[in-house]
Amino acid sequence: MPAIPSKPRVMISRALPEEVIARARSRADVDLHAGDKPLSKTELIARVKDREGLVCLITDTIDSSVFESSPGLKVVSNVAVGFNNIDVAAATKRGVVVTNTPDVLTETTADFAWTLLMATARRLVEADRYVRDGKFTQWEYMVLLGGDVHDKTLGIIGFGRIGRAMARRALGFNMRVLYQDAVAADPATERELRATRTDTATLLRDSDFVSIHTPLLPDTRHLINAQSLRTMKKTAYLVNASRGPVVDEAALVQALKEGWIAGAGLDVFEEEPKVHPGLMGLSNVVLAPHIASASSDTRIKMAALAVDNCLAVLEGQTPPTPVNPEVLGKR
Ligand code: GLV
Repeated sequence: MPAIPSKPRVMISRALPEEVIARARSRADVDLHAGDKPLSKTELIARVKDREGLVCLITDTIDSSVFESSPGLKVVSNVAVGFNNIDVAAATKRGVVVTNTPDVLTETTADFAWTLLMATARRLVEADRYVRDGKFTQWEYMVLLGGDVHDKTLGIIGFGRIGRAMARRALGFNMRVLYQDAVAADPATERELRATRTDTATLLRDSDFVSIHTPLLPDTRHLINAQSLRTMKKTAYLVNASRGPVVDEAALVQALKEGWIAGAGLDVFEEEPKVHPGLMGLSNVVLAPHIASASSDTRIKMAALAVDNCLAVLEGQTPPTPVNPEVLGKR
């Protein structure tokens, strides 16, 4: 009798939706860390070292130490579109495929960035607190005045999938859209989204809302700094649902305190889960715990895509969304 091929060995670093774990278990020997805290680096290495596949989250730092101690590792599958938690160069050097979860979270993430934009401009969190604190004792004409969104200018930094989804939302608010990106969108897309490409300084100077959708790269770290915040209008709002370190948080605290800009909506922070203490006491900032893609449907789709990516590599197929496809040809 021919030997039954053994299932590939996969480590999943956090609890994911049950149906997705069940799918993984049907095709792989799964070691699931279902605890409520991420594994420490030492614990993670101990559990990955004899695995061929790793499905991980942005709270897991996958650097060369993980690759060095896991000689059989073939794929690292991130349950996120961003992958700055993974040393992709080190993975590529060792022939390890890295995958992410683009597309499935685009609209949900843009919905949330838009939520932050609206909540910040219309002071929704302050309004909620006002009512709960019993301050709504009579209708007031001049209370909680916010900024208009319709007819204003939205500046989008990073015009990839999510940036473009923001621009599509802006059409419904009759906004002018400026965008900054290393690559120009094709003219048809610019026309459809009524978006104009510009340099960062012009975008900062002319926009009423600046929304960041760029990945974290060496040259986007602190892209928004004291100088950029000083360039923005005093009536402008900043939204960040990309990665925290794109914004110099200390400079942002100063800008919000001293009125260089009107407000900010933040889903991400420089040193998550830490939040700059200066942000905590400010009423002109809306804070969220990195939940832009956190709808029930989208979290299932992200987990399913991550598991599909992982299993595809281990079963000798092309994964749907590789980050370093150059590795695939060499395997
Ligand atoms: C979340 O931050 C993601 O990159 O998907």
